Amino acid sequence: SSALDDQARAILQGNDRGGYTIPTDGLYPYQWNWDSAFAAWGFSTFDLDRAWTELETLFSAQWDDGMVPHIIFHKQDPGYFPGPEVWGTNKTPATSGISQPPVAATMARLILQADPEAGRERIAALWPKIVAWHRWWRDYRCGTGVVAITHPWESGRDNCPDWDIGMAGVDGSNVGEYTRRDTGHVDPSMRPGKAEYDRYIAMVQFGRACGWDQREIVANGPFLMEDPGITFILTRANDDLAAMGRDLGHDVSEIEGWAADLRAAAPRLWNPETRGFDARDLKTGRFADRIASAAFLAYLAGVETPELAARMDGIWDAVRYGFPSADPAADSFEPRRYWRGPSWPVVNALLAIGLKDRGLDAAAERLRRETAELIEAHGFFEYFDPIDGTPCGGDAFTWTAAIWLTWAG
Ligand code: DGY
Repeated sequence: SSALDDQARAILQGNDRGGYTIPTDGLYPYQWNWDSAFAAWGFSTFDLDRAWTELETLFSAQWDDGMVPHIIFHKQDPGYFPGPEVWGTNKTPATSGISQPPVAATMARLILQADPEAGRERIAALWPKIVAWHRWWRDYRCGTGVVAITHPWESGRDNCPDWDIGMAGVDGSNVGEYTRRDTGHVDPSMRPGKAEYDRYIAMVQFGRACGWDQREIVANGPFLMEDPGITFILTRANDDLAAMGRDLGHDVSEIEGWAADLRAAAPRLWNPETRGFDARDLKTGRFADRIASAAFLAYLAGVETPELAARMDGIWDAVRYGFPSADPAADSFEPRRYWRGPSWPVVNALLAIGLKDRGLDAAAERLRRETAELIEAHGFFEYFDPIDGTPCGGDAFTWTAAIWLTWAG
């Protein structure tokens, strides 16, 4: 409806802090990496110039080694923990020391399609920076052929049960006193617990102590797990990056090689026990033995198996509103606790792109309809209870507004 369109645009504009967009006021007062890429897609429906600016501001914080950090602390805000002084990365602008799912190339290509001529100069300048970021993933995170994350926050799916097995090996008992801010903004029962936060902070302290030496973090850090989510997102993003590079007249054989290598390695994430793509703890070599929404991003990368569709239907039919971030049949399922069960409109949008590309139009349309129902009934929340639709987390949320304008609405 046009009233919801207006509201969604007002949310993007209201969360605009001048060249970058915060995910939501209070809970997330800085620029977050993948949130920002989705914000750009949302802006592209009514302000193409502002859409490109969002991506340009994100890449203005790129590290010399190519990493694009997961948070950029443009302006100090005491309402968030852990802030720049905890990360201690000594960058200008101040940033965190890990990355986040690389959706920027995919979003840039969608934005470019809206007006290829108007976007040509913008993407020409951005393209080599995205290449450098994807090379960073390849060099620093793809040691086994698929993507491994060094912190659950890097996955974007912070407290997903996927990470429990790796988190069990992290000592959170010596992190000292700190005050969480997130639980002052939203209901603590919808957020990660204290034991998890202690471990999140221990991982940040390790990174800081070694001067954010990414090789050291991978080799000796407290946490290292293969992530199907980023593996599939990066595979697809490499395709999109190569397609844009080809149009710009670049040699894209290196990027095509990255995509091919990820595809060749993807079967290593297939767990015959869970009959799905699974996370693996590289400290022990063991699978998490979980299935989460990220497994179905295989469609986005075009590496799905014949069994995956049946698996998807089974999980989906257990809830009213797809797609649950974690398996409703597992003991770990919590329908309102962040990534342990809730449905996330932004993940739904990514899933639907993949489903549609693979010819599963009815599934893509079902996902769109169920997502639209949630937003129409409750507004632009961060995530929703997949069983009864209860709105959860932050309100007036940027990426929920963005995917309403681009896909769900
Ligand atoms: C948070 O603070 O919860 C964020 O998800 C970290 O990126």
